[in-house]
Amino acid sequence: MSDIQRVGVVGSGLMGSGIAEVCARAGLDVIVAEVSADATEAAHGRIAASLGRGVRSGKLSEEDRDQSLGRIRFTTDLGDFADRQFVVEAVAENEQIKTEVFTALDKVVEDRTAIFASNTSSIPIMKLGMATTRPEQVIGVHFFNPVPVLKLVELVPSLLTGAETQTRAEAFVTGALGKEVIRSQDRAGFVVNALLIPYLLSAIRMLESGFASPEDIDNGMVLGCAHPMGPLRLTDLIGLDTTKAIAESMYDEFKEPLFSPPPLLLRMVDAGLLGKKSGRGFHNYA
Ligand code: CAA
Repeated sequence: MSDIQRVGVVGSGLMGSGIAEVCARAGLDVIVAEVSADATEAAHGRIAASLGRGVRSGKLSEEDRDQSLGRIRFTTDLGDFADRQFVVEAVAENEQIKTEVFTALDKVVEDRTAIFASNTSSIPIMKLGMATTRPEQVIGVHFFNPVPVLKLVELVPSLLTGAETQTRAEAFVTGALGKEVIRSQDRAGFVVNALLIPYLLSAIRMLESGFASPEDIDNGMVLGCAHPMGPLRLTDLIGLDTTKAIAESMYDEFKEPLFSPPPLLLRMVDAGLLGKKSGRGFHNYA
């Protein structure tokens, strides 16, 4: 069983909101940190909407929804994390921003046994650990989108992560949150993105070369391979900016052309066509 009751989530985009929701539904005390009041308001709306889906599908009572929301506090001050036992960082996929968060957490979290987890998909956990004075407490805990729906968590210890941190983190995500764990070494992309990202980039290259339409590429994989969604719609769900950032980290690490983001992806990100969250990506969501 997990001893962890007080959780902090830094960043409340798609992933941070989902992680906060899952923790609150598990009965934990959750604080979510964001950079602005507008961002916390958006996160509150996202979590309320997602809990509402749970009520509509009969998985959650209205009382559970209200109690779960009531367990989440929002703040713009990381100083509120002093008493947290488990902190998950889920800010943008940017090494500098993430390392700054870890350095700040190291200063404010008082409990030296607290676990600092990162939801990064591709940035080395070692770099995040070295931004603190307690790398043995730092571990990759990578959730999948939508977090309330998908069971998987990748557990990624760095070379310096302590054995007890690994055991406690695993007990927390499996016991308290009801997720399933796979383990990966600390390599950019871990297991799932090392397989997924080249596939998504191949679909974008296929579109870019005029080989097939977005609908036909997606229908091909949905109807021909029983995937829940096609690669372009999935890139829209992940976010084109996030997909680009993950591909760049992986390309930096391995220098393999299959991880190199194609020009169409770069131009669409330049244009603000980020996928579902911006209303338009490879498909329209307006
Ligand atoms: N929050 C809460 N619940 C949600 C949800 C959300 N954001 N999205 C969907 N659901 C629930 C719905 O309420 C529904 O529940 P019931 O069956 O109880 O009614 C169920 O999930 C199915 O949803 P829908 O019927 O609306 O739609 P669907 O059947 O088409 O499924 C999907 C939607 C779950 C997103 C599905 O298409 C899917 O699993 N797609 C693949 C997603 C995927 O591959 N994600 C991994 C991305 S990679 C990543 O995250 C890591 C990274 O580092 C990039």
